[in-house]
Amino acid sequence: MPLVTLKEILAPAKEHNYAVAAFDTMDFTLTEGIIQAAEQTGKPVILMLPGFIFDRPDAQSMLDFNLNRIAKSPVPICYHLDHGKADECVKAIHAGCSSVMYDGSSLPMEENIAVTKEIVKVAHTCGVSVEAEIGHVAAPEGSVEGSVADACKFTRPEDAAYFVEQTGIDALAIAFGTVHGVYKGTPHLDLERLAQIKRLVDVPLVMHGGSGLPEQDFRSAVKYGINKINFFTGMSLATIAAMRRLIEETDGRVRYIKLYDAALQTVIQCAKEQMEIFGTQSIYS
Ligand code: 13P
Repeated sequence: MPLVTLKEILAPAKEHNYAVAAFDTMDFTLTEGIIQAAEQTGKPVILMLPGFIFDRPDAQSMLDFNLNRIAKSPVPICYHLDHGKADECVKAIHAGCSSVMYDGSSLPMEENIAVTKEIVKVAHTCGVSVEAEIGHVAAPEGSVEGSVADACKFTRPEDAAYFVEQTGIDALAIAFGTVHGVYKGTPHLDLERLAQIKRLVDVPLVMHGGSGLPEQDFRSAVKYGINKINFFTGMSLATIAAMRRLIEETDGRVRYIKLYDAALQTVIQCAKEQMEIFGTQSIYS
């Protein structure tokens, strides 16, 4: 199965009312675990690169590994830049990503529209999809915990419709009560707002900040129209906890490969659990 765009991977999700899981990767273990989870279940997945990857000295090896691994997989995989600045979107397109998220959500709306439109022009010319955000999901991306008090700006339904119409994007990230990182406090999703946005907007809707939500909230978000769910902190914390357990159990006298295996198996299990909760359909079903 070839690398697919965000538009391609989300079209059946929108038609059949499920969400595709989108996990961030920043090393070999995460990429391998996320793709193995997709392969074991036959489910499509979105592998996301954080923008900071391009500043790392090992960026090129990471990018080469991801692309080669995706090319060898039998399941549809979208290779997506998460929360990119404009220059990172261009770098991601050059690096072979099939989709980019331009994040202008902290800009005034007209400025966000102007830059997003330029990114769409370049990306679409290269056959690459674009996700963008209106409103602002609380807590900066990469936060380990957050609350809606951390600069959350809920998306106004009329802004969502105007933004999509003006920019020509392929998927829209909206803010309706989630936060990046795990929750400080109890999450309250504004499902009525989500339903209103869904009525006004024709492109697939994206929920950022999945970690820390109860299972029922994921199911409700999908039921009310979310087709892509970004999830990272929960997977990262579970993987670190598994490695820590093994180190404690063995008093640190453990072979490196065992630690790697513990991490890999945790990533696979965590990715599979989320795909199941999001209702992602298998290509074999
Ligand atoms: P969490 O880390 O809260 O799961 O959010 C991930 C995310 O939204 C990445 O864009």
